[in-house]
Amino acid sequence: MVNIINENNYNLINSADGDTNLMRRLEAMLPSDHRAGLELGLSSGGSVYLVGGIVRDLVLGRANLDLDFVSLTPAIELARQLLPRFAQQFGTEAVKLTEHSAFGTARLEVGDKLHLDFATARREIYAHPAALPTVTFPATLQEDMGRRDFTINALALSPSGDLYDPFGGLQDLRAGILRVLHPRSFIDDPTRMIRGVRFAARFDFSFEAHTAKWLEEARVGGYFGLLSAERKRNELRLILKEIHPAKGLALLEKYKLLTALHPFLEWDEQLAATFPRTSQADISAANNLAILLHKLGAARAEQVVNDLRFAGIEGEIPIAVARLWETVRPQLQANLKNSQLYNLLHEYNFPALLVFELLLDEPERKIVGHYRDEVAGRKPLLTGDDLIRLGQKPGPPFCQLLADLREAVLDGEIAGREAEETFLRQQIAQKLPQK
Ligand code: CTP
Repeated sequence: MVNIINENNYNLINSADGDTNLMRRLEAMLPSDHRAGLELGLSSGGSVYLVGGIVRDLVLGRANLDLDFVSLTPAIELARQLLPRFAQQFGTEAVKLTEHSAFGTARLEVGDKLHLDFATARREIYAHPAALPTVTFPATLQEDMGRRDFTINALALSPSGDLYDPFGGLQDLRAGILRVLHPRSFIDDPTRMIRGVRFAARFDFSFEAHTAKWLEEARVGGYFGLLSAERKRNELRLILKEIHPAKGLALLEKYKLLTALHPFLEWDEQLAATFPRTSQADISAANNLAILLHKLGAARAEQVVNDLRFAGIEGEIPIAVARLWETVRPQLQANLKNSQLYNLLHEYNFPALLVFELLLDEPERKIVGHYRDEVAGRKPLLTGDDLIRLGQKPGPPFCQLLADLREAVLDGEIAGREAEETFLRQQIAQKLPQK
């Protein structure tokens, strides 16, 4: 029996759905450390609720380890009270408390696998479209639920397992519907357009008719463009980290949000087919961004990366893959010598090459695989030190000698120290005659 607290009078009502207490059901689903953390998190009594994605996913029967709590009393004080209990359970060394007084939030971390987020119930006011909200607290549970994005995310679970569902989220979960709580939701926070698409893709849900209309109005009104590059990037990154990014990307295209993220972004059937093929690979935002951008050409890929403030490997891999696709792919022929392959590919790192390989068809894919397996790691036994021993001084001719040596080794023309030294001596004699 799922107990639901009605929005109007907080009475418990019973849904027709099953007969399992939701909190017990959740505890049974969690790994042991999370279960212990949850029990401690709720141990202070009745004014703390589990909220957000974990409650939604619990109802859907999906795994989720994000222990997010809302507290009707100040959350920082609550977390401070809980700290000794966590220290006792998990050891003082393992437990860390971080407080954000401006937001009335606190995080209890246990090692690097378990964390609990506590937020004081709050209201949010948006000074202007796409502004970061001004937060006021404390607030009622109803108000805290009312600041949220979709009904399915406006659910709270009490310590005794009662579901607080003021906007009909449970019904929408059952019907597979994404419904915002008010007409201005997408204008206040345009990231919700992308969030909505992400949930629609992940759960195979549809937008409720008004919600779809408000989303379209907010898009046409250009509100998405008011978001900072970083906030757009964060939302795109979350789509790219989904198990099936192509579903989210196809929906972004359908709702004309892909070009709202960046005008260069394109989507077509071929890209849609490429993602599933590559999804066995290590799923990462960097790899999936590389797939999304690979046909744009290196210059445009770089522009997207820079404009959306992707950095580190999330910038490097996509640009490298776009360059490989644009400039290297047309030159990949079966009769290339190893040294030629080396010259084409050696400046690219393996993570970029792996994505590139997955994008290619045979025989090109095999050629890149051959480079990775057989060519990239093969080096002459002699080095610059040996050239110095042979009387040469560092400089351009010196580097050329080493490059010639590598080519000869890669192409199997010479093998072993002796042969390499003979080769070098010949080259020196031919190309660098003594003055
Ligand atoms: N939330 C919101 N509007 C946003 C971001 C978050 O209303 N722009 C609320 C929702 O209630 C959401 C909760 O904050 O459920 C937690 O946000 P987040 O962790 O980003 O999302 P989850 O719903 O947990 O989704 P996911 O499963 O992708 O982590």
